[in-house]
Amino acid sequence: MALTPVLTAHWDEADSFTLAGYRRHGGYDMVEKVLSAPPDDLITVVKDSGLRGRGGAGFPTGLKWSFVPQGDGKAHYIVINADESEPGACKDIPLMLANPHALVEGCVLAAHAIRASHAFIYIRGEVVHAVRRVRAAVAEAYAAGFVGQNILGTGIGVEIVVHAGAGAYICGEETALLDSLEGRRGQPRLKPPFPAVAGLYACPTVVNNVETIANIPTIARNGAAWLRTMGTEKSPGFKLFSVSGHVERPGVYEAALGTTMRELLEYAGGVRSGHELKFWIPGGSSVPMLMPEHLDIPMTYEDMQGAGTMLGTATAMVFDETTSVVKAISRWMHFYKHESCGKCTPCREGTFWLEQMLERFERGHADLDDIAKVDEICRQMFGRNFCALGDAAATPYAPALKHFRDEFVAGTHTAADDLFDPVAATIFAAAAVGSGGAS
Ligand SMILES: Cc1cc2nc3c(=O)[nH]c(=O)nc-3n(C[C@H](O)[C@H](O)[C@H](O)COP(=O)(O)O)c2cc1C
Ligand code: SF4
Repeated sequence: MALTPVLTAHWDEADSFTLAGYRRHGGYDMVEKVLSAPPDDLITVVKDSGLRGRGGAGFPTGLKWSFVPQGDGKAHYIVINADESEPGACKDIPLMLANPHALVEGCVLAAHAIRASHAFIYIRGEVVHAVRRVRAAVAEAYAAGFVGQNILGTGIGVEIVVHAGAGAYICGEETALLDSLEGRRGQPRLKPPFPAVAGLYACPTVVNNVETIANIPTIARNGAAWLRTMGTEKSPGFKLFSVSGHVERPGVYEAALGTTMRELLEYAGGVRSGHELKFWIPGGSSVPMLMPEHLDIPMTYEDMQGAGTMLGTATAMVFDETTSVVKAISRWMHFYKHESCGKCTPCREGTFWLEQMLERFERGHADLDDIAKVDEICRQMFGRNFCALGDAAATPYAPALKHFRDEFVAGTHTAADDLFDPVAATIFAAAAVGSGGAS
């Protein structure tokens, strides 16, 4: 399948991130038309297009927008999730750096659709260059009259606030993000109520991923049927796939959903020279790993699920034969333990123990029955957490064990180690000397 550059079409132009660069290719051309039409018109187009959220879960965007109650007299908000922090995920930050105006225009259009007068862009704080880039784009859009009050004389007003988070993976979870935005410690909220009913400041709120919202201007321009010319019935359109790890040309490749990992690997120049693929992960560290025999499965939400994994954020990681699976899983456990917010016991305690036990395998200090013990901890954790972080932490071990059990066995004491007890050996030697010899 060929690449389908839409969001990435002009990334190679020196001024792609400026208002002038964006306007040159039709940027903001849809604002007046969409804002002059009834809000439901855009909801219908997005629903018909079948666009699914790009933040990981793949929830249909138009449907999510339609959950926002209308005529309720309350303020409505649109919040853009730009917290991209999952190990391996690298698509929203490049998008914000190269094409921030697609996000800004998308915010204005989406805000109109859900009858919101304020949009918040919540960016992971450590990525200072992305925060600066988006702030500059918003300032340019305000100055040109595409954001603010009475946009282009339509009578519609949308204010955009760019907020830098303090850098916590959990603040990517949509309700933790909302708490953080309100100035509280970022911890997930109990659901229901869902944000569409009671979100930011207890008002109806839509939380969408950066890439989801950046897609809106092109869908508004080209129509729902256009998006459906790409991808599959259940996964229409194109996607930013990132490929990282042991490849020749790591990067972001925009292609139709349904492209295979073998094709993406070709775009990325293949596994690095002189090495071969050991395993790969289709969408960030939270989704189960796949093996070389899975390279030809179409990268769609439904096909990845059929293969026992998830498309997630479609940010693939590639690992060659030099990778220690035990070490890789151990690093992810360290991450999840560090990022667990501690609100619920299975995740707080489970990640604490998983990190320690994986470290024992890494050092070769584990017992053979620790293999089953870790599996049991993961099973006890899965499905018993407040949010998906706990499930994500419990996910990587089982598939790793299925495919690479020998590496975990190698992390245990060997039978010979167990026979040699240094304390007993010392006592025995001393006794032997005292009695004039063992024989
Ligand atoms: C621990 C955790 C971290 C998350 N991080 C992000 C993130 O950085 N960006 C994002 O868009 N969604 C993230 N999500 C998913 C969001 O909760 C939410 O589903 C998403 O922003 C919805 O946007 P979409 O409908 O456009 O996909 C995360 C979820 C969890 C549980
Ligand atoms: S699953 Fe983990 S991160 Fe999520 S609420 Fe519970 S403790 Fe916090």
